[in-house]
Amino acid sequence: MSDNIKNTRKITIQRLIEMKGDGEKISMLTAYDYSLAFILDKTKIDVVLVGDSASNVMAGNVNTLPITLNQMIWHAKSVRKAVQRALLCVDMPFGSYQGSSKKAVYSAIRIIKETGADSVKIEGGKEVQKSIERILSAGIPIMGHLGLTPQSINKFGTYTVRAKEENEAQKLIDDAFLLEKLGCFSIVLEKIPAELGRKVAKNLSIPTIGIGAGPYVDGQVLVLQDMLGISKDFAPRFVRRYVDLYSVIKKSIEQYVQDVKNIDFPNKKESYWQ
Ligand code: KIV
Repeated sequence: MSDNIKNTRKITIQRLIEMKGDGEKISMLTAYDYSLAFILDKTKIDVVLVGDSASNVMAGNVNTLPITLNQMIWHAKSVRKAVQRALLCVDMPFGSYQGSSKKAVYSAIRIIKETGADSVKIEGGKEVQKSIERILSAGIPIMGHLGLTPQSINKFGTYTVRAKEENEAQKLIDDAFLLEKLGCFSIVLEKIPAELGRKVAKNLSIPTIGIGAGPYVDGQVLVLQDMLGISKDFAPRFVRRYVDLYSVIKKSIEQYVQDVKNIDFPNKKESYWQ
């Protein structure tokens, strides 16, 4: 595939909704930095998410709770410089929208103003309704996120599949309808049974984007480092590894160290002689 796909149409929210209507699946991946986002935007990826999984992947935290609004903005600014074609969405971090709709709109405005992102993502349904309404009223598009919502890990206790029981599945369906009614433009469904994913996708007019939500939803999202095989110790069932970059990178570094020790690097051509 050509490296130059500049002329390809910019992905808009309207285009994502059209894709659902046409039965074309939506592809989404995360990015946290300029270098990888640059490669991402040279592909036909539809949506790039600056996920708060940056907390785990970039900062080595055990969960997404510690990452701050300023840190998310820093990551998103770097990604924005590289992403011109895909739709850019930024996660609102834990503590930036829960509990106060005033704080929520302030946080969302900062994200859009300081990073140039196209939209924000928020975890939760009814419990964050007021924040969603206020952000939407400021003209900021929102992607919802239901099912396993990692910012609530202390409430759930584990990262196991959500909504297996009837009452939790019904709450998820009710929340999905609510998010659509409020005006969210899409919803991430994380780690839920495939049949529930199918039911939600079939009954909503906005796109559903799954991560561990089976094949029937309208699109798929993965963490880039997981599908590239960089994050070695994280291997849930829903991750497909397309390459073992952990081994490729490790081998290359080992070779470099050996070359330096053996005075094989730099060679004549790699040195300046005048
Ligand atoms: O933070 C994140 O990376 C996410 C996706 C996995 C959906 O929320």
